[in-house]
Amino acid sequence: MATYSTLLFETKNGICTITINREDKLNALNKQVLDDLDHAMDEVYADQNIKGIILTGKGEKSFVAGADISEFLEVQWNRGKQLSERGQNIFFKIEDCPKPVIAAVNGYALGGGCELAMACHLRVASDNAKFGQPEVNLGLIPGYGGTQRLTELIGKGKAMELILTGEIISAQDALQFGLVNYVTAREELLSKSTEILRVILSKSPVAVSKAIKAVNTFDHTRAGFMEESRMFGEAFESDDKEEGTKAFIEKRKPVFPGK
Ligand code: COA
Repeated sequence: MATYSTLLFETKNGICTITINREDKLNALNKQVLDDLDHAMDEVYADQNIKGIILTGKGEKSFVAGADISEFLEVQWNRGKQLSERGQNIFFKIEDCPKPVIAAVNGYALGGGCELAMACHLRVASDNAKFGQPEVNLGLIPGYGGTQRLTELIGKGKAMELILTGEIISAQDALQFGLVNYVTAREELLSKSTEILRVILSKSPVAVSKAIKAVNTFDHTRAGFMEESRMFGEAFESDDKEEGTKAFIEKRKPVFPGK
C-alpha cells in the first residue's frame, strides 16, 4: 500500500477510506492533493481487496474548501484550460470507478470540494456541511465539472442560480435540492456512509459496476465538460480573476475591473 503526503489511505474489511489531510487549509485541493488523489484512485482500481470507497476530509470544519486559490496566482495566466482538464480527468477517474464511491461530507464543500463530492456516486453530509460554487467571487467559474454535474443533479434553474450568485447553502437545502442523498449528525457521518456502502457491497459487484457505467452515461456528454474547460481558461486570463484571487489572499473584497 502506498503512502500519500496529503491523504490518509486506510483499508478495513473491504472499505477504503481516503481522507484529505490539509486541515489547516480546510483541505483545499492543491497540486499535490490532486496528484495524490489521482494515484490513490489507481490503487483503488488495482487492489482486489478494496470493494468500496469512502472519501472524506480531515477535521470538523471542512470536507474541501475548493481548489487552492493561492496556487491560482502562481499558475501561468494561459494555463487555466489545462488546469481545469487536469482536475476534470481526476474527477472522471472517481466517477468512472467500477467500485462504489461515497463522499462523506464533513463540513465545507465549496468550489472544487462540491465538485469532488458530486463526482462521487453518492453523497452523505453531516448537518454542519455547507455547499456552494463560489468561483464567481474570484472572477472564475467552476472548472472541475461543476457546471455539468450540478446541473444534472439539481436541474438547470437552481444550478444556474447557485453558480451565478455563489450562494453557500446548508446541508438541509442540499438535501432538498437533491445535491446530497442523506444528512446525518456529525458523529454518525462515517457510520451512515459505511452502512450505505455495506448495502451496495452486499449486491452483485458485476451488476453494481455495470449500473455505475450505465447511469454515468445518462445525458453526460463530454462536450459540456470541454466547454467548461474552455470558459474556465478564458476566465483565468481575465483581470477579474487576477483581482478576485488577490483579494482572497489579501482577505478583502474584490473590485472587479470587468475585463
Ligand atoms: N484555497 C486556499 N486556501 C484556503 C482555501 C482555498 N480554497 N479555503 C480556505 N483556505 C485557507 C485560508 O486562506 C486560511 O489560511 P490561513 O490560516 O493561512 O490564512 C485557512 O484556510 C482557514 O480559512 P479561513 O478563511 O481563515 O476560515 P474561515 O472560517 O474564516 O472561512 C471559508 C471559511 C470556507 C468561508 C473561507 O475559507 C473561504 O471562503 N474559502 C474559499 C472558498 C472558495 O472560494 N472556494 C472556491 C475556490 S475555486
